[in-house]
Amino acid sequence: MRLRRRYADDADVVYYFGDCRKLLTQIPAGAARLVVSSPPYNIGKPYEAKKKLFSYLREQAQVIRLCVDRLADGGSICWQVGNLVNGSNDVIPLDLAFYPLFRRLGLKLRNRIVWHFGHGLHAKQRLSGRHETILWFTKGDDYVFNLDPIRVPQKYPGKRHYKGPNGGQYSGHPQGKNPGDVWTIPNVKHNHVEKTSHPCQFPVELVERLVLALTNEGDLVIDPYMGVASTAIAAARHGRRVAGAEVCREYYDLGIERLALLRTGELRTRPMGRPIYEPTPGSPLTRREGVRP
Ligand SMILES: C[S@@+](CC[C@H](N)C(=O)[O-])C[C@H]1O[C@@H](n2cnc3c(N)ncnc32)[C@H](O)[C@@H]1O
Repeated sequence: MRLRRRYADDADVVYYFGDCRKLLTQIPAGAARLVVSSPPYNIGKPYEAKKKLFSYLREQAQVIRLCVDRLADGGSICWQVGNLVNGSNDVIPLDLAFYPLFRRLGLKLRNRIVWHFGHGLHAKQRLSGRHETILWFTKGDDYVFNLDPIRVPQKYPGKRHYKGPNGGQYSGHPQGKNPGDVWTIPNVKHNHVEKTSHPCQFPVELVERLVLALTNEGDLVIDPYMGVASTAIAAARHGRRVAGAEVCREYYDLGIERLALLRTGELRTRPMGRPIYEPTPGSPLTRREGVRP
């Protein structure tokens, strides 16, 4: 795995320490098949939120334009965002705010993927937030979409057509079904095997699914906000080239460490497709004195 700290065509992984705009301008126009990222949400104090949101989006629009210029025709961009919550429980769904930025650049939305997970803050005055979204846009209509590598097991693999020309034959696809647009994937908290000190890293399996579906081997994937290199890990593991930036030294160093472990085969990640953990009924943590099971 050839790791470079500045963009180079022959690199497998480019991990740039600094502002993403400086990296993006090093990458040739049309070079990438996929951009996947979760942007920073540094929107400031609640009473400033409206003005801050406006200037935040204006800055994001610059980065998105640079990303879209680097996308090949038929390429995809996946922008993963949650909600902004002001002090008074005023919820702003960021994907609504981002949608026009992509449309203005002529991109088309293919899916709004709901990422559902189990852990987070326990709200007191509203329902606890347990999902975020991924806006998947494409540049052009002739885009890469590989369904087979991301199929998931059928619920009823033994189901058959009961009449018609295919009567008696299995009705589902032998390799499994389309995973749909609601993905339940554990977020990286507490005991997750991938946990670092980063507060909001991608689970590698989430990016793997996007990489496998939306790129082919040898394609270039970009993550302008690479954090602890989760996108690089997912892309490199599947033979894709990748380029990303991180501005915070602590996260960058952690990312470098994780890439070194990937290279030696020692990096532990939660495998794609592993079922969600369900506690064994009757185990101590599933019982509480005085509460009926
Ligand atoms: C939401 S996190 C993304 C985490 C990443 N998906 C991961 O798995 O680690 C956003 C990251 O962008 C970094 N960041 C913020 N502004 C940046 C900039 N202008 N250029 C590059 N990175 C930036 C932050 O330090 C943070 O690690």
